[in-house]
Amino acid sequence: MNTLILNADQGATTINKNIYGHFAEHLGRCIYEGCWVGEDSPIPNTRGIRNDVINALKALRPPVLRWPGGCFADEYHWRDGVGPRETRPHMINTHWGGVTENNHFGTHEFFDLCEMVGAEPYVCGNVGSGTVRELREWVEYITFGGRSPMADLRRANGRDEPWTLPYFGVGNESWGCGGNMRPEYYADEYRRYATYIRKLGETRVFKIACGPNGADYHWTEVLMKEAGRHMDGLSLHYYTVPGTWDKKGSATEFDEAEWFQTLKECLKMDELIRRHGAIMERYDPDKRVALIVDEWGTWFDVEPDTNPGFLYQQNTLRDALVAGISLNIFNAHADRVRMANIAQTINVLQAMILTDGPRLVRTPTYHVFEMFQVHQNATLLPLRLETNDYEHDGQTIPALSVSASKDEASGRVHLSLCNADPNRTAELACELRGATFATVSGRVLTADALNAHNTFDAPDALQPRPFDAARLQEGARLTLTVPPMSVTVLTLE
Ligand code: AHR
Repeated sequence: MNTLILNADQGATTINKNIYGHFAEHLGRCIYEGCWVGEDSPIPNTRGIRNDVINALKALRPPVLRWPGGCFADEYHWRDGVGPRETRPHMINTHWGGVTENNHFGTHEFFDLCEMVGAEPYVCGNVGSGTVRELREWVEYITFGGRSPMADLRRANGRDEPWTLPYFGVGNESWGCGGNMRPEYYADEYRRYATYIRKLGETRVFKIACGPNGADYHWTEVLMKEAGRHMDGLSLHYYTVPGTWDKKGSATEFDEAEWFQTLKECLKMDELIRRHGAIMERYDPDKRVALIVDEWGTWFDVEPDTNPGFLYQQNTLRDALVAGISLNIFNAHADRVRMANIAQTINVLQAMILTDGPRLVRTPTYHVFEMFQVHQNATLLPLRLETNDYEHDGQTIPALSVSASKDEASGRVHLSLCNADPNRTAELACELRGATFATVSGRVLTADALNAHNTFDAPDALQPRPFDAARLQEGARLTLTVPPMSVTVLTLE
């Protein structure tokens, strides 16, 4: 038997909406084709950005969008991406397929995209191959409203008013593609670069330092010790890979063993947050510095017959479970985790959206983000879950994962539940303390096959449907029959 005690009147922490953030890199078909098609494209667009993508993203209420990379960020020179498009220089995208980048999507286009979808911009600066001056001038170009060389250049390029720059990353994966630095060296570089991210506009820029690769606790220790007081956020990158980096496994052709292994790897996020959080606690007990999980998600072998440098993969019910379980973990750590950015928005890794010419598919992961948006800026509710195990081949992981929040404006309580077990229905008895409710309603995302997914020919094969297996008794007891391999979101009011 699975049981849940939910304390509906004891919420103390806000789930930062930015936990539901996104990441779009100049990688494969994420920016070009997926988002930017140009003003002359036959694909309907607004100032070059696809209308179907704008509409699909808006429905997720994306709070924040990270750009331009990723590894690309540390080779990106922003001045190549402003001014008349026909005169912008071309460059080689060395990390991602060695293709030519024409710089048609640059600063103006990115801020336009953010405005159109309602996301706050999170720009990642070039530390690996850039200069302090270049980074400082980018901040001036974006944020300064008075007369200055960079503000005048922005005006000459067609934008009078400065933009707001809420978040700025000081390099990406500086331990790897961003310069192969040692933490001691990067900590000093961080301090130097961050000094010149000035407040030139209305808003102070929230500065994010490059954090660890997965379980590299030494990196976190050094960064917090040497640079913790100069940063607002420290990033963490962790990808769910069921196999090895050489043979990660297929996105669509897998058996139960790979399903199990994927979810087991995904659950490691909880331990990573706890252990990095414990180190941060020593240097920052007040939790001033946020842990920013600005790259996460599944990473499988690329779709056969696609460019291996483009990281295009399909997205199945398994990805939906990874998304739901990860988001529940982030919610649970909302006191420290105040932003997360799934990799990546369109056509790359665990995408929300796949495109093929003018066609667009919403993935199972998209539907999870759409369902979970009710947690954005809601109050996290404490809960105690006793769950059965999901056992496979002698190994176990928890079958259920749950998160709950209260929307302070409406008083509604939302519960998100994932059942990782593909074979067994979970009966769940919930005791609701501190409030009584009149109704329960919800939606569930599930299918009959582990690898169920949406295709361009059947784009709506997998989508949420009404959930009718929840019963409320005396307003304070809730019983649920949670289907195998499912993601459910309930509303209590
Ligand atoms: O998201 C793909 C890549 O993964 C990013 O560019 C890099 O930061 C990470 O290694």
